[in-house]
Amino acid sequence: MPNFYISTPIYYVNAAPHIGHAYTTIVADTIKRIRRMLGDDAYLTTGSDEHGQKVERSAAAAGLEPQQFTDRVSEAFRAEWDELGLECDFFRRTSDPRHALAVRKIFERCLANGAVYKGTYTGKYHLGDEAFVTDEEAASADLEMITTVTEENYFFRLSAFQEKLLELYESQPEFVQPDARRNEVMAFVRAGLNDLSISRSTLRWGIPLPNDPEHVFYVWFDALTTYMSAIGYGEHDGPGSDYERLWPIDVHLVGKEIVRFHAVYWPAFLMAAGLPLPKQVWAHGWLIFQGGKMSKTKGNIVRALPIKRVVGVDGLRYYLLREIVFGQDGNFSHEALTVRYNADLANGIGNLASRTSSMLARYCGGKVPEAVRGTDSGGLPPLATLCIGEAIELYRKFAFSKALEKIWSLLARTDKYIVEHKPWELARADDSDSRFQLEATLYNTAEALRIACVLLAPVIPAGAQRIWELLGQPGAVAEQRLDRLQWGGLAPGTAVGAQAAVYPRLDVAKSVESMEDLEAEALEEQARLMGASAPQALEIDTPEIEIGDFAKVDLRVGVVRAADRVKKSRKLLQLSVDIGEAEPRTILSGIGEKYGPDEMVGRRIAVVANLKPRKMMGQLSQGMLIAATLEDGEPHLADFPAEAPIGARLG
Ligand code: MSP
Repeated sequence: MPNFYISTPIYYVNAAPHIGHAYTTIVADTIKRIRRMLGDDAYLTTGSDEHGQKVERSAAAAGLEPQQFTDRVSEAFRAEWDELGLECDFFRRTSDPRHALAVRKIFERCLANGAVYKGTYTGKYHLGDEAFVTDEEAASADLEMITTVTEENYFFRLSAFQEKLLELYESQPEFVQPDARRNEVMAFVRAGLNDLSISRSTLRWGIPLPNDPEHVFYVWFDALTTYMSAIGYGEHDGPGSDYERLWPIDVHLVGKEIVRFHAVYWPAFLMAAGLPLPKQVWAHGWLIFQGGKMSKTKGNIVRALPIKRVVGVDGLRYYLLREIVFGQDGNFSHEALTVRYNADLANGIGNLASRTSSMLARYCGGKVPEAVRGTDSGGLPPLATLCIGEAIELYRKFAFSKALEKIWSLLARTDKYIVEHKPWELARADDSDSRFQLEATLYNTAEALRIACVLLAPVIPAGAQRIWELLGQPGAVAEQRLDRLQWGGLAPGTAVGAQAAVYPRLDVAKSVESMEDLEAEALEEQARLMGASAPQALEIDTPEIEIGDFAKVDLRVGVVRAADRVKKSRKLLQLSVDIGEAEPRTILSGIGEKYGPDEMVGRRIAVVANLKPRKMMGQLSQGMLIAATLEDGEPHLADFPAEAPIGARLG
């Protein structure tokens, strides 16, 4: 049996699972199910990305050690995939010691091949992305995320791989898909590649380098390697191992924002280590909710479990695969989801299934009849044959939405065929021709339903299994082969079942309300998970300072006299702040998502008055406001009552 190995990204543990993560994992699970039903021995790997500064910070905010914190959140991801019925064969955590074996092994191979060196680097560093960024990138990023860092790093000689990478994309156009992403990646590589910093000495929460344990591996060299460590690389990777069987991987499924890491860095690391390259990196689009990609800071997050509890796993899977064109961005809406569920699942296949079984019970004694030759089959057999071929082809190309459209056109034709032949009238007529036509109509209907059911099993596994059983079919529909599916497989005489609605119809308004209520509960649950309500034992690990050091900071009470938004920046406000000097100061502050300009005017706030002026978005900022980032991820200003004297020194 051929092997098929597919991955999802490993998810960061500084956010609880949301529907964006579920989307990739559901698609990966669907692809795995399709490959199984095409005869492959298919495996899916996923996991959690646990190292780095952001996680260290989130753990501290939760009052936990990084390991405790990551244990908790990574378990939440695992539990989520279980509850959604996603069949992940491997779940690799980057904090697993077995993972470190693989990271070190690849690093040592890169080192031995001269692809790694030690150097010093000073650059603009993005705290959110944990990466050095170009001046251009820094200029367009949120300012408070950018800082300057100088440190000794191990570097990967990415610049040496430009030609080889271009050759790879040229000779294997399917390596990066869809084509638009491939073009982007090629343009990026053609523009020239900088060497890549792959270690940090300022960070403790990571895997130490084997040759220099003062350094830990930095994000991508560590994270990408899970695809190999999950199947035993570095641990059991000899003959007969999972690694030997499954590497190179068939598809890395990723969101479009991380295609570069997978399609540029990762193959370069593997080339340097002399290891086989993945066969494909497939980048999908984003689920957009309330106008943007979901993010913790924006708070526009939807979770999968509240949806599952109302429309079931199938309702969620079907919506994501049918409504969103795979590869493109798509809007998420609870209402559209419920409307789709009703139209296609409840009124579509669900209704056809109950109609078929009740007609078989009523007119044929609950048994599949025979389709007598010469009766009108309404063109269903050739249409079904065509549909099988097309759906498989589209599934292979990950064109899920189109494949589902094809299958629904078979279902629509079947519904029409029933209406045209009116089995209820045929049953009343007392002649043998009508009887033959009645039986043929019900045979053809049931057979079309069986074919649709098998084709749909990878997308709506729960309902497909119920319909399978309703049609009296033995075993699991998931064990059927898509590529062996043929018209005529339903055996006359098979006893069919009777069953309550496979997909009960839902009231749209009520369902949306239930999902939103459950969502609010899930949010609280998530806050508990992330430890937001447990800041008790916050350990402070910054070095102690002398009082004289503190005295160097000139902290003042200031009052905001005027406030405006800075053009092209979501976060930045330009404030005119009076700190008791002759002229008010101009201060730029990244609080604009939390505070509007109107709320700022008249507010008394704490200002660092002797900070070296900094240029931000072309403006000089002459100070800094003091704020705490609370568990909601938003800045909360330290402020004073109206009677606080302007210019008073804090300390
Ligand atoms: N840890 C890195 C990946 C390392 S892979 C070696 C990471 N993690 S993440 O938690 O931010 O997850 C990113 C992935 O989650 C995206 O690439 C995508 O697969 C999925 N999605 C997260 N939000 C999403 C949407 N709003 N829409 C669609 N997918 C989204 O990046």
